[in-house]
Amino acid sequence: MTAPFNPPSHIQHPQLLAWVRAQAALLEPANIHWCDGSEDEYNALCAQMVQSGTLKRLNPALRPNSYLACSDPSDVARVEDRTYICSLNKEDAGPTNNWMHPDDMRATLNPLFKGAMRGRTMYVVPFSMGPLGSQIAHIGVELSDSPYVAVNMRLMTRMGNAVYDVLGTNGEFVPCIHTVGAPLESGQTDVAWPCNRDTKYIVHYPETREIWSYGSGYGGNALLGKKCLALRIASTMGREQGWLAEHMLILGVTSPQGKKHHIAAAFPSACGKTNFAMLIPPAGFDGWTVTTIGDDIAWIKPAADGKLYAINPEAGYFGVAPGTNEQTNPNCIASLKSDVIFTNVALTDDGDVWWEGLTDTAPAHLIDWQGNDWTPDCGRKAAHPNSRFTVAAANNPALDAQWDNPNGVAIDAFIFGGRRANTVPLVTQARSWVEGVYMAATMGSETTAAAFGAQGVVRRDPFAMLPFMGYNMSDYFAHWLKIGQNLGKNAPQIFCVNWFRKNAQGQFIWPGFGENMRVLAWMLARVENDAQTAQGVEHLFGISPQYADLNWTQSDFSAAQFDQVMSMDKTDWQTELALHDELFELLAHHMPAELIAHKTELKTRVNAL
Ligand code: GTP
Ligand code: SPV
Ligand code: MN
Repeated sequence: MTAPFNPPSHIQHPQLLAWVRAQAALLEPANIHWCDGSEDEYNALCAQMVQSGTLKRLNPALRPNSYLACSDPSDVARVEDRTYICSLNKEDAGPTNNWMHPDDMRATLNPLFKGAMRGRTMYVVPFSMGPLGSQIAHIGVELSDSPYVAVNMRLMTRMGNAVYDVLGTNGEFVPCIHTVGAPLESGQTDVAWPCNRDTKYIVHYPETREIWSYGSGYGGNALLGKKCLALRIASTMGREQGWLAEHMLILGVTSPQGKKHHIAAAFPSACGKTNFAMLIPPAGFDGWTVTTIGDDIAWIKPAADGKLYAINPEAGYFGVAPGTNEQTNPNCIASLKSDVIFTNVALTDDGDVWWEGLTDTAPAHLIDWQGNDWTPDCGRKAAHPNSRFTVAAANNPALDAQWDNPNGVAIDAFIFGGRRANTVPLVTQARSWVEGVYMAATMGSETTAAAFGAQGVVRRDPFAMLPFMGYNMSDYFAHWLKIGQNLGKNAPQIFCVNWFRKNAQGQFIWPGFGENMRVLAWMLARVENDAQTAQGVEHLFGISPQYADLNWTQSDFSAAQFDQVMSMDKTDWQTELALHDELFELLAHHMPAELIAHKTELKTRVNAL
């Protein structure tokens, strides 16, 4: 049985209507819901999910208008090994992506998508990545059988009827098709978190700009505007059109004198982007303010004045809960006061939420993310390590006044930072664009719970984009080099940071979080080329400060500790370079000659240590 096809009359886009009709015939939903993006619709969908058991309403006195969703244990993070870039040629996906020929993938997916929405409602979700109508925004339409996706998309993107006004009769949109892959046969009762435990596919066709996602309802697997459109598909658009789609936060930082800089920083998943984007400067930095433009994705384009400008294509945050507290990220805690959807955190006895690190002492009793009774001595985590919150950017007290500016903000510096217990110093400035691109390209990081699979293993994660590249990684390096060449003297400075050095006892040495301001201030002074406040010394892979070059007002971080987070050991670096060699071997096809030459020079310097 096919659902009646009754599109609202304000959709005047024949190609879009024909596409929805054709997909409905394939997916066979019981109903079609055309999302308008209104608050009433949001509340009604949430109420419906409370009824069905997908959401729990939190105590309105403690957490107004907020909900908790707990997913199936098989569906808790992005599935990198099930993610495909299906370009016509394998070489265009490159050696870091899973690939299948589009014809073969379509033949694989067709039987899965046939009737996949039976017994469910198909939500038609129109959304804009970037300010509505902006020259640099792109529109997507997601068809999904998950009401959880529909409400999350309203928080994360500009979603609703206004998108159809922008599309008009023939505007371009990226078609995104999502199903949880759990059709309901007649009479079958639904589960709280439908998904397909055995089969998941996150598929991108870059040439035809399509996204097909099957079997998961979680995060980046299901909210298709985010990683699938704004990074994987957008990176291929950027390559063609001369811009960058990056896994970067964007922040503004204003000095006591009123001088404002904008920084874009790429850290891998669950490595501190949200924290850094909402940083509150520590005591001793009176008059400095940091404001958030974005916390996960940046679209960066050269403008007529010869500089790079960045926008945040998103309109909300899907952030990591564990570790977030009043000390580590007060702005984030303030953002979560109301109107939040939490996923996979624990429920307190008074109907609020809790996660590891929220408070020093855990509550005496909780319901954990899997619905079981939990006590502090039970030996299990109460919240999943990749548990998250979804909240609109408007909730953030540190939101930058320019965050919604369709022209974006001018970028003064790029920062790249992995999670490394050793080897990589706290901060280093690249001496040239090529050196900076080399740093970013060879970045390593310990894997985190943000992706399904092993954790804590160091892997190369070039530009923090390994899971998000829509094309060949070496071609992407070349694209970055070309952008830098075109920018010339307008090219932003490039820095590399590591907040995660550990001591022999396995503890973090650097205090991190707000204290990262000390490093940020040094970087800004370097950008300003302020010789008085921004001394540095050259070493084998760039320029770093000495202890006396940082502002330590009201800090007890010692010179000896500083030496620990800055140290560069010859053996460590020889091991590191062997890993660079491995990466370059993997990416040999189309690897830019400048980067190969740079590696040779670096090796000479390491061996001379
Ligand atoms: P995605 O949303 O997955 O792309 O990640 P993100 O980079 O936004 O991650 P987020 O900022 O939420 O980082 C979460 C983890 O990083 C938590 O475990 C934090 O405690 C930890 N973290 C963030 N900043 C710092 C820091 O300065 N020092 C240390 N030691 N940990 C940090
Ligand atoms: C990441 O893993 O980098 C995220 C979370 O930002 S997700 O949207 O699930 O990919
Ligand atoms: Mn991310």
